[in-house]
Amino acid sequence: MSPSRTTELGSTGIMVSRLGTGTNRWAQGENDEPVYEAFKALLDGGVYFFDTAEVYTGGRSERLLGGCLHRDRRSIIVASKYMPYPTRLTKGQFNEALDATLERLGEATLDLYYIHMPPTLTSIESLMDDMAEAVSAGKIRSVGVSNFSAEQLRRAATQLENYGLTLAANEVEYSLTNRGPEENGVLDACKEIKASLVAYRPLSRGLLAVNNARGNPAMKTLESIADRHEVKVGQIALAWLLQKDPIVIPIPGATKMEHALENMSALNIVLKDDEFRELDEVSKPR
Ligand SMILES: NC(=O)c1ccc[n+]([C@@H]2O[C@H](COP(=O)([O-])OP(=O)(O)OC[C@H]3O[C@@H](n4cnc5c(N)ncnc54)[C@H](OP(=O)(O)O)[C@@H]3O)[C@@H](O)[C@H]2O)c1
Repeated sequence: MSPSRTTELGSTGIMVSRLGTGTNRWAQGENDEPVYEAFKALLDGGVYFFDTAEVYTGGRSERLLGGCLHRDRRSIIVASKYMPYPTRLTKGQFNEALDATLERLGEATLDLYYIHMPPTLTSIESLMDDMAEAVSAGKIRSVGVSNFSAEQLRRAATQLENYGLTLAANEVEYSLTNRGPEENGVLDACKEIKASLVAYRPLSRGLLAVNNARGNPAMKTLESIADRHEVKVGQIALAWLLQKDPIVIPIPGATKMEHALENMSALNIVLKDDEFRELDEVSKPR
């Protein structure tokens, strides 16, 4: 059976497409039109969960996503992120950053707001207090964290519980070339607290999306399975993540329409049990 095309973000009640799209390379060039074409193609194909951050292309990624949203007018789910720089220590700075994100997106409310990295000079708990206040002010609908360890995300979830809130997601790197979340307890912790695991760099920055004649055994396995399914290697890499666990939501970055189209058709691929196991085995860290 193909993976479901939508899923709940943690236990927030917010539905997102099972595959999202990363935008950290959006608005890099002179011409944003190809990105808008990719955006429309993604919505046509039912991919409507977009991941941005205040730090992506100096805020231009958020601005371009907002521009696409207001040109197209279809409803999407937007996630953005707050960077807890060591110089950002106050609630006022948090609110200022959130307001600037909302202004760039041209929206009154953000669906999901992440803490981009574990903080160094503020506490996880005080940032969760700021997040909870933003939820009650109606500025954000749900709270996430990114690059948090299992212990850090449990702390975040525990603090949110004081406000009757749940942690929506932990966004971490996860792919066939980075099995960290399985090894370091993050995947299990997400399941335990019912948060989604949003998988960034699911194509290992594009390396898993190109055939590599000098590839290692994992790449060769990927290529032979892709040949069998008559699809591209990147689609198999995404299909593996989609089948790995229902809480995993991969967010491949794409600035080109053909990439967006290829990536979303990973949702139609069903890996046979032996193909899934072979990929799983051959890509394990040794
Ligand atoms: N939370 C964090 O700390 C964090 C860190 C890194 C990334 N992220 C998020 O995760 C998203 C994804 O990560 P990523 O963009 O770094 O890496 P990625 O998704 O693994 O790879 C993106 C690269 O692969 C290329 N690509 C995409 N689809 C392709 C296809 N079908 N065939 C060939 N090439 C393809 C893209 O090219 P084109 O651009 O030319 O389409 C781009 O160069 C980011 O956009 C960002 O939103 C979050």
